[in-house]
Amino acid sequence: MIGSRKLDHLKLCQEMDVEYRDKTTLLENVHLVHQALAGLSFDGIRTETRFMGRRLKAPLLIGALSGGVEEARDLNRDLAKAAQRLGIGLCLGSQRPMLEDPKAAGSCQVRRWAPDVPIVGNVGIQQAAKAGVGRLAGLVRSIGADGLAIHLNAAQELSQSEGDRSFPDGSAVLKALSRRLPGRVMVKETGCGISREAASRIKAAGVRIVDVAGAGGTSWPWVERLRSPRRGTKRRWLDEWGIPTAVSLFEVQGLGLQIVASGGVRNGLDAAKCLALGADLVAMALPVLRSHGRGGLDGVVGFLSGVIEELKTVMLLSGAGDLQALARTGPVITGNLKEWITSRRTRQRSRR
Ligand SMILES: Cc1cc2nc3c(=O)[nH]c(=O)nc-3n(C[C@H](O)[C@H](O)[C@H](O)COP(=O)(O)O)c2cc1C
Repeated sequence: MIGSRKLDHLKLCQEMDVEYRDKTTLLENVHLVHQALAGLSFDGIRTETRFMGRRLKAPLLIGALSGGVEEARDLNRDLAKAAQRLGIGLCLGSQRPMLEDPKAAGSCQVRRWAPDVPIVGNVGIQQAAKAGVGRLAGLVRSIGADGLAIHLNAAQELSQSEGDRSFPDGSAVLKALSRRLPGRVMVKETGCGISREAASRIKAAGVRIVDVAGAGGTSWPWVERLRSPRRGTKRRWLDEWGIPTAVSLFEVQGLGLQIVASGGVRNGLDAAKCLALGADLVAMALPVLRSHGRGGLDGVVGFLSGVIEELKTVMLLSGAGDLQALARTGPVITGNLKEWITSRRTRQRSRR
């Protein structure tokens, strides 16, 4: 059942238009300022960083995609090889099948192809709460991962007829897990973004890494409706629900969390804007899957090396020789993004 759902997801995301249509990331309202006298050389641009105790050549993660289903074995292997070749991180998709059958671990055994880069396991908060910390730590250990991502996906569950309807806040399991795996637990959304309120609770539970996975990229309610035989042709409001990625980056700032930006990040310019807005790293899911569909391992390596080259180009033109300098550039914020930020800040001030 889970395996066939996962295969539907992979197929639909390869073949159909599954992205938000009306809502965007609002990264189009972020403008990096051109510096004509940057005094930098392309080869001197530094993008190294660290994640879950390991060194990365670029602040990039392959987003959670495929996980523990047998049919994803080749995809997982190629993603691991691409991550190793480029010196970037790999987030695996849900290991839920492994909680039900430990033999399902096979497709997630990718450490031999990516010995030097961070590999992050994945499970939903509902399953995490049921499984308990011992089994979750076992999930990480059994595949030689560096840490575990816990995903939040209420909008996706609500748009499935067989999905969950009750969403416990998960603080207890997050607290216990972050004590067991200190600095190696990441909480992520799956495309609806993380608010300041949610980020504060995540931080209070002892978690140190958050992936905003905001709106504007893959729409999971839409993917679920495409799976349903009664999907209709009109897109419903739930397909467009969520906090745009750029807004979510503002929401989670200043709490001392390591921030991953994802949800609709599609190229090196998007990545540079996210990093200038305070993200420490960026992740991409859908475009990586599609690059694999087009060209297998070479397709993924080609796509992601292009993203890194674009990122370096934007850094040079913005006068930023390294990631710290990029974070200090102070982009100009316009339009709807400015309105979101102003409205949220006014509300937060009035509640204090
Ligand atoms: C085919 C596919 C499968 C996914 N499976 C998972 C998953 O198992 N666990 C998870 O946390 N996120 C999963 N995601 C969500 C992504 O990690 C990401 O948060 C979301 O798609 C937004 O990023 P994007 O716009 O770059 O796709 C999946 C995404 C895709 C495209």
